[in-house]
Amino acid sequence: MPVADIDRLNRDFGIPKQVLFVSGPGGLTQVHINNPHAAATIALQGAHVMTYQPRGQQPVLWLSTQGKFAAGKSIRGGVPLCWPWFGPHAGATAYPGHGFARTVMWEVAAIHGTDEGATRLEFRLPAASKNIQQWPHLSEVALHVTVGAQLELVLATRNTGDQAFVLGDALHTYFMVSDVRRIAIQGLAGCPYIDKVDGSKRKIQTGDVTIDTETDRIYLDSTQDCIIHDPGYGRRIRIAKRNSHSTVVWNPWIEKAEKMGDLGPDGYLHMVCVESANADADVVTLAPGGEHRLQATYSIETIT
Ligand code: BG6
Repeated sequence: MPVADIDRLNRDFGIPKQVLFVSGPGGLTQVHINNPHAAATIALQGAHVMTYQPRGQQPVLWLSTQGKFAAGKSIRGGVPLCWPWFGPHAGATAYPGHGFARTVMWEVAAIHGTDEGATRLEFRLPAASKNIQQWPHLSEVALHVTVGAQLELVLATRNTGDQAFVLGDALHTYFMVSDVRRIAIQGLAGCPYIDKVDGSKRKIQTGDVTIDTETDRIYLDSTQDCIIHDPGYGRRIRIAKRNSHSTVVWNPWIEKAEKMGDLGPDGYLHMVCVESANADADVVTLAPGGEHRLQATYSIETIT
């Protein structure tokens, strides 16, 4: 983005010592947020929250050190937005996995500091960034981010046309963990899931989810909070969500990570995706005039 446009963003939305737009790696425009509660970085491409670190804590989000930052390429780590479908498109294999919203430019709609010292940001997907061929529906989509002692994300979709449409979405969040082999993910016991590394067989989760091999699962009917219990970092990450019926748990493990090429040598050991989603049988049918708000809040609890 030309320097003049970054200057304009800073004039229109910057807040001294709190909100600053800069040109980041690969020329991607980023907004840096610093407030008494936390620091965060968000790229305008994909309205992609890249980092979030509450004061005095380890980073909550994992961001690859080997990521390739480039226009039109999804950033590896942070919170990619999957919209308007999750995974492969149901009908057209040539369409991009997880939809197009994560690789196009979003615009800033509003930014302000709250009385409690948090920072609220709103991003919108402009009409020019929507792929009419791949998504021939009239819709408005916005991402609301609150950077505070917790990180709150709301991906809001409105049907502005006169026909219902079917929507899949996800906050495809990469969490940073001390060692993925030594964490437990709680809150999914009893949920049915699709095991994508075992021929998409349907299974039922018993107990906590632990990871010691490639893991790629869509948990259905899963609306409870999930907790990443991480004794190595002495913390639990609580994922509280609304209007999300699926939870995706993903870690590529060794071979797939090598093939992907942008995870770094032992990146797979320090990340796990626990995605608040509406996927597979849980996709949303949105009637004309209807709004769907996928929300997740991430907070840290210390293990004593
Ligand atoms: C997960 C999917 O949500 O995203 C996996 O369940 C996929 O199947 C992973 O491999 C990463 O996708 P991408 O397109 O960002 O490489």
